[in-house]
Amino acid sequence: MSYLKPTQTLLSLNRKVMKAASSRSVRNFSTTLQLHNVDARRYIPRRAVLYVPGSDERKLKKIPSLSADCIVMDCEDGVALSKKEAARSMIRRILDSQEIDFTGKDCSVRFNSVDSGLCEDDMREILSGAHLPSTVHLPKVESPQHLEWFAEKLKSVVKTSTSSEKLRLIIFTESATSLLDLPAICRRGVELSKDFPFELDGVVFGSDDFCADIGATRTNEAKELSFARQYVLTVAKAFKLQAIDLVYIDYKDLDGLKVQSEEGAGMGFTGKQVIHPGQVSVVQAAFTPRPEKVEWAAGLVQAFEEHQKEGKGAFTYKGHMIDMPLLLQARNILQMASRT
Ligand code: COA
Ligand code: MG
Repeated sequence: MSYLKPTQTLLSLNRKVMKAASSRSVRNFSTTLQLHNVDARRYIPRRAVLYVPGSDERKLKKIPSLSADCIVMDCEDGVALSKKEAARSMIRRILDSQEIDFTGKDCSVRFNSVDSGLCEDDMREILSGAHLPSTVHLPKVESPQHLEWFAEKLKSVVKTSTSSEKLRLIIFTESATSLLDLPAICRRGVELSKDFPFELDGVVFGSDDFCADIGATRTNEAKELSFARQYVLTVAKAFKLQAIDLVYIDYKDLDGLKVQSEEGAGMGFTGKQVIHPGQVSVVQAAFTPRPEKVEWAAGLVQAFEEHQKEGKGAFTYKGHMIDMPLLLQARNILQMASRT
């Protein structure tokens, strides 16, 4: 496995952040930026996570022209029951033939859930070839036992891989039970990642199944989901996982999508699920810090370090009181900018 060393990661972060921040604003920035707790794994940006039904050849052929960071070839709810087999074999063919160019995109597949009885067949067909996707998505994870089942199956199915990296796993939380058990599920996922051929990388909030489960009526404003979104985000971050926000199903309403995407990014989500190519650019823009924000953060980090040298804790920067929590927030912005 070839992971970047932390020092390499920091150097490349520095380079990318410097590019993102405008040069006029960032005096001596390269020497002052110190990002702590940087994950040594390669970061895979997943701002827009786009589902492409695995049974729909016309849509699959469009993948090279789609600009989403993460493409999810779907076996689950985007595929009719009568087309499950067709979806599996189409996805396997795409992986085997390498006929679709995934350059610059996370090539991923969503299986059916463990409880559906279809997941094992999905895994056997899709993961037994020479070329694997870089990420797999497991929906409706209800308990740590689901992950144990998945880990054992994966071990028996994956024989070879041309990739030097472990398969990344994204899990979905989509019911009240799953939400209640989410910390235990994530903890087990992180533990299993040490001994099995996958690495837990993120949590998706499956809002529509969740609404059905709790009896909520879905609205574009998503007030009925406030607690669940906040909770999923908090748990995911506690385990240093990506947190991927709900789908905006009214896909022609781009203004509403922009509002909800910016809200999700502001809450701390790292990306958002999308169902239509027209949603991608709005979502990706919302999950990319604006240049002026990057400039603000870079200046703040520099000012903070200068004040530290003078022995000052709190100080004023651009009219606002700055102390350690603000510094940490500024570092988050720089880290986000460096990743996209
Ligand atoms: N992936 C790739 N291409 C897509 C796409 C997708 N998810 N959604 C739409 N397109 C393509 C269409 O094929 C069409 O191209 P064409 O004119 O060359 O055929 C173009 O984008 C415009 O699509 P449009 O006509 O506006 O929509 P549609 O009626 O073809 O499809 C949906 C609408 C909602 C059915 C479709 O976007 C879709 O299937 N989305 C995914 C749904 C899903 O996976 N749900 C489960 C996860 S929540
Ligand atoms: Mg779902």
